Amino acid sequence: MSQEMIIVLDFGGQYNQLIARRVRECHVYAEVHPYTLPIEKIREMNPKGIIFTGGPNSVYDEESPHYTEEICRLGIPILGICYGSQLMAWMEGGSVETAPVSEYGHTEVTIDEPSDILFRGVSGKTVVWMSHTDYIARIPEGFRITAHTKDCPAAAMSCPERSLYAVQFHPEVMHTREGQMMLRNFVYNICGCSGDWKMGSFVEDSIKKLREKIGNGRVLCALSGGVDSSVAAVLLSKAVGRQLTCVFVDHGLLRKNEGDEVEAVFGPNGHYELNFIRVNAQQRYYDKLAGVTEPEQKRKIIGEEFIRIFEEEARKIGAVDYLVQGTIYPDVIESGLGKSAVIKSHHNVGGLPDVVDFKEIIEPLRMLFKDEVRKAGLELGIPEYLVFRQPFPGPGLGVRIVGDITAEKVRIVQDADAIFREEIAKAGLDRGLGQYFAALTNMRSVGVMGDFRTYDYAVVLRAVNTTDFMTADAAQLPWEVMAKVTNRIVNEVNGVNRCLWDLTSKPPATIELE
Ligand code: XMP
Repeated sequence: MSQEMIIVLDFGGQYNQLIARRVRECHVYAEVHPYTLPIEKIREMNPKGIIFTGGPNSVYDEESPHYTEEICRLGIPILGICYGSQLMAWMEGGSVETAPVSEYGHTEVTIDEPSDILFRGVSGKTVVWMSHTDYIARIPEGFRITAHTKDCPAAAMSCPERSLYAVQFHPEVMHTREGQMMLRNFVYNICGCSGDWKMGSFVEDSIKKLREKIGNGRVLCALSGGVDSSVAAVLLSKAVGRQLTCVFVDHGLLRKNEGDEVEAVFGPNGHYELNFIRVNAQQRYYDKLAGVTEPEQKRKIIGEEFIRIFEEEARKIGAVDYLVQGTIYPDVIESGLGKSAVIKSHHNVGGLPDVVDFKEIIEPLRMLFKDEVRKAGLELGIPEYLVFRQPFPGPGLGVRIVGDITAEKVRIVQDADAIFREEIAKAGLDRGLGQYFAALTNMRSVGVMGDFRTYDYAVVLRAVNTTDFMTADAAQLPWEVMAKVTNRIVNEVNGVNRCLWDLTSKPPATIELE
């Protein structure tokens, strides 16, 4: 089991998980913990190093997040970043003030102490990413300034004798050109890590820890077939085998053949040792959704029905100790970890049952970014087509059919979407796109087929590129691909006589139609 760990203490900055991720890219395991993590817990965890993150506050505000000064006396190397650097200066007796000039964005920094271990191999002048309104006005006794910028006299400081280092800028963001080298210097040359961690170790460690934690307990997992819940399920199945039951609800709003594909992987003839329950609830959903046109109401019905089905299945299974969720970092709203109190499921991420009580919710992937989850999935031997699946919303095709939902419309959108995906894959574009899908408008228009008039639906095709799914731009697809997809859909999908391409960005549109 990998022993080397860096604790990233979260003071509320926006790049905190990115710091952990950059450390993991150095093959050293890193975890983000809230700044409220007690010092005894830190001692127990015995990290090789600690990183204080940035944060939006001013250290001199009473309300701002602080930490006990004892942390700097543990003898564990610490790197303070942005707010974290100011916190270190302040805790150690220096002073922090509002800077006369705030720095934001690309900024040139001059390294004053090239022999400082943190800057080993870094250019004498280098570009960093700054984002601060306060600065260290006076460094603490025993420290020295190791870098400055035009407007920030203490852009970095250190006290090597005590292994305390601080940088006002953000080494974790890509805009800091030599940031990764600084982080490498910290973890290898200051903390003395050997860098023996890899995703395989994460998988092994997680399996071992899950086994220890769960013992003989029973575990339930809501499996959607998406990459996150699939990776979580496989991890659990490797840890506790048949103590795990996966419930897969086929709500009749999945992509074409998706239900069977999920069953082929996870079902009785699949690759894993686990109990798999497929609930074929298609008709039940279509009945509930009949005539409903309002998007929010549709979403609500789909979500609630899922919960009811999940509850029914959980009741059949009997006492369940743990519920597994495939929550990954971008889904995590607050970073409170390791709370072992009894959790009622409805306190957690929306869409969980109200009446089923679990001892605890297990979220084995909550530290990881999507691409790290995919790496873990590959390590676990999950088929590539599942691992590299594009995101698919929980309400499924329900939010891709404008207006009321019928089995016939689901069939149309499934067929059109399958053609679109097939052509995108054939053109080798699938891994380069954020999301791409077919949706069904509620519009019918006149066409001509052979000698006959048609009055059929229009399909919308949408492909977007996005990094965070908060904003998105229409992807520029090759014209031949667009023409081929359009032709195939109007020729092969019954009930469609027109294809429309949605080139709207988000905002003002959203990615999904509803
Ligand atoms: P929008 O349409 O809001 O979508 O721009 C942003 C991203 O979120 C996905 N999405 C959902 N995912 N449950 C999910 O798990 C949902 O209810 C849901 N609604 C939208 C959408 O596919 C896109 O990736």
